[in-house]
Amino acid sequence: DHHLPQGYNLRPLEKEDYVKGYLHTLQTLTSVGDISQFQFNEVVDYWKSQPKTYKNLVITNSESEVVAVGSLIVETKMIHGCSKVGHIEDIAVRPDQQGKKLGLYLVRELVKLAKEEDCYKVILDCDPRNEVFYEKCGMHRAGLEMEIRF
Ligand code: ACO
Repeated sequence: DHHLPQGYNLRPLEKEDYVKGYLHTLQTLTSVGDISQFQFNEVVDYWKSQPKTYKNLVITNSESEVVAVGSLIVETKMIHGCSKVGHIEDIAVRPDQQGKKLGLYLVRELVKLAKEEDCYKVILDCDPRNEVFYEKCGMHRAGLEMEIRF
């Protein structure tokens, strides 16, 4: 089965990740903004106050730098007998660490968490250029994404 390279570790996001490069790695995905340690802590506290809903994972390298990040949001629904849906969000692997299967490992772990939480499916929105990557994570194309951007 799949495993992380030597020296790499997977664990939940912690406040200390502010100084371990969490935001820098997240910037691989999109603009993050100038977030202070205080703002970072507030968001982490909010996520940690709802541990059944927000599951944020990081992969660190042997220097304890955060080199990959990703999240699962577990949505409680009314349909299908009060079922749950997992949403995979904000996956990013630091550019110099891409191609080592870190993204694959991280997404698989998030999918496992969704299963453990009894989600009946796990979904995400992505750019078409990431389709092959997510197929390798065991997912397949379904539906169409729509938005209104504010
Ligand atoms: N096109 C085709 N195949 C790809 C691509 C790609 N763009 N990216 C990865 N793969 C393949 C790899 O070749 C590998 O295939 P193999 O198992 O046959 O060798 C497999 O997918 C797994 O690749 P990983 O090494 O795990 O990928 P990586 O760790 O580099 O992470 C990721 C992929 C997350 C897309 C990374 O490139 C990244 O951070 N990109 C920028 C941010 C981004 O687009 N994030 C996803 C946004 S969508 C969302 O968050 C829901």
